[in-house]
Amino acid sequence: MRLRSLGDTGTKVGAIGLGCLVMSRPHEGTARDDGRSVRVVNEALDLGGNLLDTAGLHDAVHHETLLGKAIAGRREEAVVATTSGVALDGPRPRAVRRDGSPAQLREAAEASLRRLDIDVIDLYHLHRIDPAVPLAETWGALAELVQQGKVRWLGLSGATVAQAREAHAIHPVTAVRSELSLWTRDALDGGPDGMVGWCESVGASFIASAPLGRGFLTGTLRAGGLRSGDLRTSDPRFHRTAMEANLAIVDVIREVADRRSVTPAQVAIAWILAQGEQVVPIPGTSDPRYLRENLAAAEVRLTDEDFADLRALPVPVGSGAEP
Ligand SMILES: NC(=O)c1ccc[n+]([C@@H]2O[C@H](COP(=O)([O-])OP(=O)(O)OC[C@H]3O[C@@H](n4cnc5c(N)ncnc54)[C@H](OP(=O)(O)O)[C@@H]3O)[C@@H](O)[C@H]2O)c1
Repeated sequence: MRLRSLGDTGTKVGAIGLGCLVMSRPHEGTARDDGRSVRVVNEALDLGGNLLDTAGLHDAVHHETLLGKAIAGRREEAVVATTSGVALDGPRPRAVRRDGSPAQLREAAEASLRRLDIDVIDLYHLHRIDPAVPLAETWGALAELVQQGKVRWLGLSGATVAQAREAHAIHPVTAVRSELSLWTRDALDGGPDGMVGWCESVGASFIASAPLGRGFLTGTLRAGGLRSGDLRTSDPRFHRTAMEANLAIVDVIREVADRRSVTPAQVAIAWILAQGEQVVPIPGTSDPRYLRENLAAAEVRLTDEDFADLRALPVPVGSGAEP
């Protein structure tokens, strides 16, 4: 596996990591297979995809406990990323609220350490910024966790460039984790003034979440094929008519893939890798075949013709960006 620097920490990670949230089946609401997920994490480590990304929200008891079990005995090989700053909000399933108060962050970090069964969290992302708490207070509390040796490095998620700058002035932002894919390109907007550009300018990593468009860009989903209760249906791009229209995007990706004798998922990942040396995609999967396919995308080289075709992809229907 090709390596990329994790911010300016001196630590290298595989150029492609692993998103672990799908192991709790949040998209489909289908049955979990923890044994298979543990094998997938171990195979990711075997293949060098060692940035393992989970979250301390929603079903954190499952997400983090499962990842902790999976890396038991291989702690030193893994770079474990998780999140804080979002707390459960009452008994409604999946109801959360932002909470950037220092007390909550301290408590959340302890809970994550316990569930992951590790002594230190490698990369701790502030999942969302709480408008009710000054960022300096929230980020300062996270910096204290670093000073106490409970966390190695800090990351931001769901932040603007201005917020990233403010945080970075207090304590280094090692990484920004945000959605980036062939159908979600906002982080590239503004070139050097956008989020991917800002990361490059300060030597931070950009961790591309949902790089496969939650599965859509792989060409394996069909319009109307999502179960009721699948969380993706809350994204307008996954509404039936939008999905039908958005299959035009998949058609182009598939053409590029056929030309290179690779898969659409590999094209989607290779395109992200080409956006800058600081960018590390974390495709999510609990399927060993998909894992191997995704990590092998590190070797895929796209041509100018491929990039031109991918640049001209239609704007996704349902993204809110249509004219
Ligand atoms: N910052 C944020 O707020 C935020 C938001 C979203 C996601 N994330 C992070 O990003 C990570 C990845 O996102 P994600 O898992 O939501 O979306 P994703 O990586 O874009 O897509 C995952 C989906 O694609 C399927 N898939 C994976 N590889 C495939 C392949 N080669 N061929 C066909 N299908 C394939 C998976 O199916 P199987 O499950 O069957 O393997 C899963 O349903 C998450 O784990 C999370 O850590 C962060």
